[in-house]
Amino acid sequence: MISTHLTRLLDIRVPIVQGGMQWVGLPPLAAAVSNAGGLGILTALSQPSPEALRTAIRETRKLTSNNFGVNLTLLPTLVPPDYEGYARVAVEEGVRVFETAGNNPGPLIRFFKSKGCIVIHKCTTIRHAKSAAKMGVDVLSIDGFECAGHPGEEDIGALILLARAAQELKIPYIASGGIADARGLVAALALGACGVNMGTRFMCTVESPIHQNIKDKIIASSEQDTTHIFRTFHNTARVFKNKVAQEVVAIERRPGGAKFEDVRHLVAGARGRLVYDNGDPEYGIWSASGVIGLITDSPTCEVLLRRIEREAEEVIGGLATLRSDATPVKAKL
Ligand SMILES: Cc1cc2nc3c(=O)[nH]c(=O)nc-3n(C[C@H](O)[C@H](O)[C@H](O)COP(=O)(O)O)c2cc1C
Repeated sequence: MISTHLTRLLDIRVPIVQGGMQWVGLPPLAAAVSNAGGLGILTALSQPSPEALRTAIRETRKLTSNNFGVNLTLLPTLVPPDYEGYARVAVEEGVRVFETAGNNPGPLIRFFKSKGCIVIHKCTTIRHAKSAAKMGVDVLSIDGFECAGHPGEEDIGALILLARAAQELKIPYIASGGIADARGLVAALALGACGVNMGTRFMCTVESPIHQNIKDKIIASSEQDTTHIFRTFHNTARVFKNKVAQEVVAIERRPGGAKFEDVRHLVAGARGRLVYDNGDPEYGIWSASGVIGLITDSPTCEVLLRRIEREAEEVIGGLATLRSDATPVKAKL
């Protein structure tokens, strides 16, 4: 077993968190990850209202007696969702772990901390990580440029970002983005992280509530099959590279640029959601990272986490054999 600050803080067996995933982070997946020894997370905004989140939390609790969390993602929208309502309901329902992400998380972080909750804040720069640390979060989730969803605008890969985190941060952090297996976990631990956050990998599990065709598409795809949309709107998102995503990129790149209005019909959230229901990977925009190149199966969360745990110990054991206590002998020429 690998014991870290994260496993002790969250009372989990494996230092693996399932990151918030819009339309995917539903009760069956969150419960399965928690039952498998990681931290499952419900995505609040996948529920149409705070009361629907209450129902989802109760449903999850029926499926697992282990700890699970709730993700609240602060979106750059003109009409914000009722964040306060979602947060209040989750606390009322006894949720004690929250993953926050997005802009201006201060008020939410303060609210959760005032209720004695554990906050994992996800961010893509050391500057944001430091300011969240000042707000009192317990753990930072450092999301490298590899990640699915929003990698920020600074294009810093995880190797550098995590090494910078080791230099700069005074509080524990986990590594997020581009991790799907034991090697990724061990690399993250070597970079000073106390665990990892995985998104795309969990999409392709038995308990993930998306259409089997999309899981098959992930398995069939390579690390070259993602792209970035919304670069020109400074709201970059890494998504699966299908025709719709390529059309968005082409519109953004045309002479004179584009306004959001020009791509709105292509990127509507409802259209992306339908991908998971109707199983057509070309139907809309859906998030995925390059780890789709690493994914070759769709196991249960239990099988996945046991495998990562076992292989991580093998990788750590293999690294230990690199040590040589023997005094170097000068080779005879
Ligand atoms: C389908 C999907 C939906 C996501 N939706 C959200 C979201 O609503 N909020 C959020 O904070 N992160 C979201 N993410 C990002 C994940 O929580 C996580 O940070 C990311 O997937 C890590 O990169 P990885 O996919 O390489 O593991 C999403 C990721 C995926 C794959």
